[in-house]
Amino acid sequence: MEVFRIRGGETLEGSVKASGSKNAALPLFAAALLSPEESVLENVPNLSDIRFMAEILTELGAEIERLDQTTWKINPRSIVHYAPYELVRKMRASVCLLGPLTARLKRAEIPMPGGCVIGNRPIDLHLRAMERLGANVELKAGVIQVEASGLKGNSIFMGGRHGSTVTGTANAIMAATLAPGRTTIDSAACEPEITDLCRMLTSMGAKIEGIGSHMIEIEGVESLGGCRHSVIPDRIEAATYVLAAAITNGKILIRQARADHLGAFLNVMSDSGINVENVGNDLSVEACNGDLKSFEAITLPYPGFPTDLQAQTCALACRTNGLSILTERVYPSRFMHIPELLRMGAEISLEGTSAIIRGGKPLTGAPVMASDLRASAALILAGLAAEGETWVQRIYHLDRGYDSFERKLQALGAQVERLPESEMPKAFHSPSA
Ligand code: EPU
Repeated sequence: MEVFRIRGGETLEGSVKASGSKNAALPLFAAALLSPEESVLENVPNLSDIRFMAEILTELGAEIERLDQTTWKINPRSIVHYAPYELVRKMRASVCLLGPLTARLKRAEIPMPGGCVIGNRPIDLHLRAMERLGANVELKAGVIQVEASGLKGNSIFMGGRHGSTVTGTANAIMAATLAPGRTTIDSAACEPEITDLCRMLTSMGAKIEGIGSHMIEIEGVESLGGCRHSVIPDRIEAATYVLAAAITNGKILIRQARADHLGAFLNVMSDSGINVENVGNDLSVEACNGDLKSFEAITLPYPGFPTDLQAQTCALACRTNGLSILTERVYPSRFMHIPELLRMGAEISLEGTSAIIRGGKPLTGAPVMASDLRASAALILAGLAAEGETWVQRIYHLDRGYDSFERKLQALGAQVERLPESEMPKAFHSPSA
């Protein structure tokens, strides 16, 4: 296994380009299955989750070709309706296959996705959407079995206890594109990744109204064609670089970043005194001479503050002067990064679903363990601001969602290295290692 060694204290400067969005690209790969014709996806990030998705599509029978670093061709002429457990269990986003397989093949068999360290992640709303469209859904031996010979447009409600489901909305939209009649999806998730999916489906010939809103209406069509589509920039990655500049008191330019996808996050940055300007398609970020102000944020579905930035923002809060509060409303137990930040000297207490962070105390480098994708990024950000060396273990989580993270940080002047675990000082190894 590999680890990151971070030598903290460097001020980040220079420019970095945001890659294509992971959470947009994954459902787009699934959407390509809706047509027997070939589709080409551009601006696809180089991530292990994308490679898993490509493997699953190949296993389903699609021909996949990577034309260059960021461009993938998908030819799904002849595909089967079942996905293997061994691949599906590696990535929850494989649930996005449910809608396209149901719509195109009238049946789907997908192993139920397993547990997740960021909290309970049910898929009841995905299954209900398929049922509302006329499918028969059963769970047999851990496999979701969908039979949909009589798919038909209907009204669907996608709101759950923690807001609208993002991939559930993607599944409902994809299935409805080929369901005869009119489907209305109320309380639809309106994340930019859903809008991007609708744009791709429209260019495949789908009839969708209300794109970007909570009420989406779809007129089912008989068939869809292939398309060429460029994935939107990754808003979570771009915001992570904003935080990297802020936490190191730096000044950077983030190329190809969409400020209009980051409104709630940028408001919090402004509360903290960080200057972020939209310059054409780029974001310029300038920190505030070490005088970071404390802030409050509550994670909510889009356009609210993204849960996928809560952990990284928590790292920044450790560097502010005063008390910051981060409340998690989407995944109430997504706080696995906190015990690791405490190892680095942070002062954080958890009260219900709120992290109360007393900032200002210096962070000190330590060996820490990444529990999931966004927690990995949070620990690396903390390491950039810490005194001394931080060693982050289990960075395979990071590789699921950050394209070339260490190379991009190095280009900004950070001292970050990917090393074999055997390079860690002996004192840091667990006794059993
Ligand atoms: N929920 C239900 N029932 C459902 C589905 C969801 O109750 O049928 C609940 C979940 O338990 C959660 C909330 O609804 O409390 C939102 O979950 P959602 O379904 O929106 O999450 P998702 O679609 O599985 C996507 C992203 C996540 C991101 C969430 C929230 C992808 C591939 N994943 O997940 O990204 O955190 O939306 O914005 O798009 C990440 O990138 O690190 C990541 C975890």
